[in-house]
Amino acid sequence: MLKAKKYNLVETNLFGPGAIQFLPDEFKRRNYRRALIVTDPSLVKVGIVAKIEAILSQRKIMYTIFDQVCPNPTVAIVDQGLAQCQSMNADCIIAIGGGSPIDTSKAIGILATNGGTVQSYMGVNKSQRPALPIIAINTTAGTGSEVTTFYVITDDKTSSKMVAIDDNCTVRIAVNDPELMLSMPKTLTVTTGMDALTHAIEAYVSINANPLTDKDALWAIRTIHTYLPKAVECGEDIEARTMMAHASYIAGIAFSNAGLGMVHAMAHSLGGFYNLPHGLCNAILLPYVMEYNGREKEVQKRYKEVAAALGVATTPWMMPYKATMDAIMEVKKLSRRLGLNHRLSSLGVKESDFESLATLALSDTCMPTNPIQPSLQDIINVYKKAF
Ligand SMILES: [Fe+2]
Repeated sequence: MLKAKKYNLVETNLFGPGAIQFLPDEFKRRNYRRALIVTDPSLVKVGIVAKIEAILSQRKIMYTIFDQVCPNPTVAIVDQGLAQCQSMNADCIIAIGGGSPIDTSKAIGILATNGGTVQSYMGVNKSQRPALPIIAINTTAGTGSEVTTFYVITDDKTSSKMVAIDDNCTVRIAVNDPELMLSMPKTLTVTTGMDALTHAIEAYVSINANPLTDKDALWAIRTIHTYLPKAVECGEDIEARTMMAHASYIAGIAFSNAGLGMVHAMAHSLGGFYNLPHGLCNAILLPYVMEYNGREKEVQKRYKEVAAALGVATTPWMMPYKATMDAIMEVKKLSRRLGLNHRLSSLGVKESDFESLATLALSDTCMPTNPIQPSLQDIINVYKKAF
């Protein structure tokens, strides 16, 4: 049945090689005066933060730098950033980096205008007011956080990842300049790229998928399948970096509007529990969750389209089940080609934790849009297959 839908996008997108050059005009137009830069130490070290500092100085915008963001950012990190934001009375936040600095900025921005605690905004649309304006300068091609209404923060006490889906955290300006991604290490290129692929595949089979998100998801799958290996093989390949920047952004639009599913729900509990890279958890779990979801005939039909986008030679008379199996094989083949041969056991994951992990995954904000609602035992079984 047709239902009314909402399709969120960010206010302004700057994209393509050299897109950062448009930022001074955007600052002028919006008259920002005091910025909190939120980033991590590695981006200060490689000189990317200095480039943004030069732009801010040119526009006479005051700023301070909070560079304490770590992978899988915690509530404590958000609170530290918020204290700095409040002490300088910032009127905007500039996130520089991948998902971790951007997610941290969203949490800081929501707390700055709404008060309360990080925990009080977990779930769907819990805040009352728009976040402090956020400018997201993305330096990885994966999370899509610069365009989504999602952010993920880890609870320091329980090590569980908490997901907020909130229209009020949408950034004002998203910058996807592939020239800022050229220095991304190979491992990060692989894991963030596989994260983007997972976004697109989960969005395509989500129960909230619609014609607008479908076209985004399939384009992103096709583009990632073509260009991720090239970006990994040669990090200086500007065409590959550009296409991956576009693909992760488009996959971000797809999942921000359609939702995610069981891969992300399970990856969130794994990543929080063992402090593992998000994209790596997704890459390991993706084929096994596809196998699980692929038991449903309607989902098989969707996976047939995914198979075609992954380069599988499909025909109109090909059985959807066969296409599903081929799509899963293609995902595994891509992972191997990118050097991802991990199993959960090789990452220090313990089988005795599966029940706790599955319990967290079952209540994750991403689970309700999975095409099949699994039982606790179903989730444990998928973890076992990936073990
Ligand atoms: Fe993700």
